[in-house]
Amino acid sequence: MSRTGHILAIDQGTTSSRAILFDGRGTPLAEARREFPQHYPGDGWVEHDPADILRDVRLVAREAVEKSGVPVSSIAAIGITNQRETTVVWDRATGEPIHRAIVWQDRRTAALCQDLIASGNSETVRAKTGLLIDAYFSATKIAWILDHVPGARARAERGELCFGTIDSFLIFHLTGKAVHATDATNASRSMLFDIHAQDWDEELLALFRVPRAMLPRVLDSSDDFGATEGELLGRPIPIAGVAGDQQAAAFGQACLTPGMAKSTYGTGCFALINTGTTPVVSKNRLLTTVAYRLDGVASYAQEGSIFVAGAAIKWLRDGLGIITHASQTDDLATRVPDSHGVYFVPAFVGLGAPHWDSAARAAIFGMTLDVGPAHIARAALEAVAYQTRDLTDAMAGDWGGTINALRVDGGMAANDWLCQFLADLLDMPVERPEVIETTALGAACLAALRVGVFDGLESVSAAWRSQRRFEPRMEAAKRDRLYAGWRNAVARVRQAGD
Ligand code: G3P
Repeated sequence: MSRTGHILAIDQGTTSSRAILFDGRGTPLAEARREFPQHYPGDGWVEHDPADILRDVRLVAREAVEKSGVPVSSIAAIGITNQRETTVVWDRATGEPIHRAIVWQDRRTAALCQDLIASGNSETVRAKTGLLIDAYFSATKIAWILDHVPGARARAERGELCFGTIDSFLIFHLTGKAVHATDATNASRSMLFDIHAQDWDEELLALFRVPRAMLPRVLDSSDDFGATEGELLGRPIPIAGVAGDQQAAAFGQACLTPGMAKSTYGTGCFALINTGTTPVVSKNRLLTTVAYRLDGVASYAQEGSIFVAGAAIKWLRDGLGIITHASQTDDLATRVPDSHGVYFVPAFVGLGAPHWDSAARAAIFGMTLDVGPAHIARAALEAVAYQTRDLTDAMAGDWGGTINALRVDGGMAANDWLCQFLADLLDMPVERPEVIETTALGAACLAALRVGVFDGLESVSAAWRSQRRFEPRMEAAKRDRLYAGWRNAVARVRQAGD
């Protein structure tokens, strides 16, 4: 018998902090959102001020609850989901960060990662963490802070400092410094966590020079993370669900059985396929990661990350100036029957999975004199689908089975034309859910499970409702020809060999 109650989801992302209040069936009732400043203090450096994040999270939480008109007494739990890997180190006694957060996009530790690869550590790291050595993950960011803030390393060794990803930093502060914890999905992105043993790993801690005393406790994704202080919403509310945003999106998309996959389209694109309780080692340079951990049992996923999806549309607006608003892209792109043979490879910051080529740069190929802005816009949208195909091909190769459908979410998933082109190019159905905010929904579901608002995983599947299913309808010959053109274009921007 499930109990009644609402769930507040906090979704702390890379550019904004949001809160959504859900009812007990997973229907969103009210939302609040605030954007916060990005800091770029060096070439390839990206930082956030944790104080901005904490302030905004408190504000949006209160605002969403107020807007909903739901009494605080009927909020059963809070779920937190967050931008992953972004690293904060703070003083355990005061809660004050000792440095701004180093964001997942930050490349300052790239040279250190190259050294670690050159000295032969890739296989150990991959075998234990499922990750490729890269500046993307938290480990080298923590070491950088400890090496650059005077006295930090000695203080960390004495246990006076805490490391956490954003979830952990929020939990610490929202519980009045009572709880220093994270969940297994976030831990799995640190490059310090053994995803098989489900524990921090001594060998990796030594390799990356991170003292164990500063690490959070790792809990299930649906667990007791303590209760918020009364000052947040007037009375303590349990934090009962936590997951990194891409894993939360997969959970909210109800990708709960092996072979179910989702793809989220925001600035970048992150695709995850559930592989069940056995981690699958990728032969195609995908990451192996924890999808969720319930009752001590981890379910795993393979993940492909593309760095530029929506960001290419932003570039059409801010860099190229052929549109004034992102929403014009769809209009422009559908004004022409095709891209006229133009391919746009948006490798502005290199290529992510499955290529992992950080030296590659963006290019537009195949232009003739009659190519105009509409063809370029069309090629930019098509690139999102081509990149997704790169990932689903890699996933299918690793997984060995058929991916029955791809569930999509994120801003660009609202575009019908893009969803249809995706279905055509992937030759698989593309499903768009009613609740497009699957990241927040996933965090809410994890919390709902813990406090009994949801009975079990069937309730998560029931909370997922299809809004529209796009069936593939392109002829195989055309699909093959288009995709071959893309592969050729990618080959031409690549710098690193396989
Ligand atoms: O791994 C980075 C990812 O979690 C960031 O997601 O949605 O905040 O850009 P988002």
